[in-house]
Amino acid sequence: MNQFPIQHPTKFKTKPDPKTLVFGHSFTDHMFLMNYDAGKGWHDGRIVPYGPLSLDPSSMVFHYAQEVFEGLKAYRRPDGGVQLFRPDCNAQRMIDSCERLCIAPVPEDIFVDAVKALVKVDEDWVPSEPGTSLYIRPFVFATDTSVGVHASKSYLFCIICCPVGAYYKEGIDPVRIYVENEDVRAVRGGTGYTKCGGNYAASIRAGERAEEQGFAQVLWLDGVERKYIEEVGSMNVMFKVDGKVITPKLTGSVLPGITRRSCLELLRSWGLEVEERLITAQELFDAAKAGKLDEAWGTGTAAVISPIGEMDWNGLCAKVNGGNIGPVTQKLYDTLTGIQWGTKEDTHGWTVKL
Ligand SMILES: Cc1ncc(COP(=O)(O)O)c(C=O)c1O
Repeated sequence: MNQFPIQHPTKFKTKPDPKTLVFGHSFTDHMFLMNYDAGKGWHDGRIVPYGPLSLDPSSMVFHYAQEVFEGLKAYRRPDGGVQLFRPDCNAQRMIDSCERLCIAPVPEDIFVDAVKALVKVDEDWVPSEPGTSLYIRPFVFATDTSVGVHASKSYLFCIICCPVGAYYKEGIDPVRIYVENEDVRAVRGGTGYTKCGGNYAASIRAGERAEEQGFAQVLWLDGVERKYIEEVGSMNVMFKVDGKVITPKLTGSVLPGITRRSCLELLRSWGLEVEERLITAQELFDAAKAGKLDEAWGTGTAAVISPIGEMDWNGLCAKVNGGNIGPVTQKLYDTLTGIQWGTKEDTHGWTVKL
């Protein structure tokens, strides 16, 4: 296991009230930093007090967005211990993202050991109120100080953490979404399958428009034919149609979600028929009209499972299961959250105790 030196702040912060935690607003006492330089590799991994970074204005990340990130959580178990959910999958996804963006990949063992070491140091920040957790944000960015498009020869790998509240404060509630016809998030051959900031920058406008119109999320269509469903907001998406679970296949423009993968493994282990394939918006609205769109839900680390109650597209409105959460959606939510918070046995070996 990699060991990292620890430097503590002179003054520790006052922790926020776990009952009123807002996502992504307060950060823990420490952060992890590690440098990369061509010819030297990754070096000087260290845990330091959380605080501002000093960067040259010509740092490449500001101009050409050579940057990738990850998102995972640490959960407080009923026995008081702390555990992570599939951190090796986040490490591997970040390697894949780095390779696409020509960034020096952070080796899996360094990624996982750094996450564990930082969460251990800030363990008191992992809240224990129901549904709360510690969100972990690893990211890597280009630090070469020169303007001119090329692959940087130096990078900074950083991890920060923030305690987050229960996603559903008043119970898990189905949301309204609409199909986005104008903006696209990603195209095949681009960076859609990676977690690079540019994908999110491209998605903000549609998200803002959806919110203005009272929708919770955008249902993204593929960027070429504008007819195949890809993702919902910052989540993967699944549908139960006529008894079968279908989800968009990973064509290169869809992020391979770790919650998606876990759901598919669970659904198959329960004996449900599951298909990963191209799905048109038309097919879904036809199924809804025929009364065959049984359930729909988004999957992602933040919400775990987000039931969809209504979908709007070109003036059409498809209600899903009468706007109520369906049985498969509920079972996935209960099973995954049970494994993550340690109230259900982890028979898949997905959790990693600190
Ligand atoms: C665009 C996008 N799709 C899907 C997901 C779901 O991925 P995961 O289940 O690994 O959180 C996320 C969140 O990380 C995302 O940002």
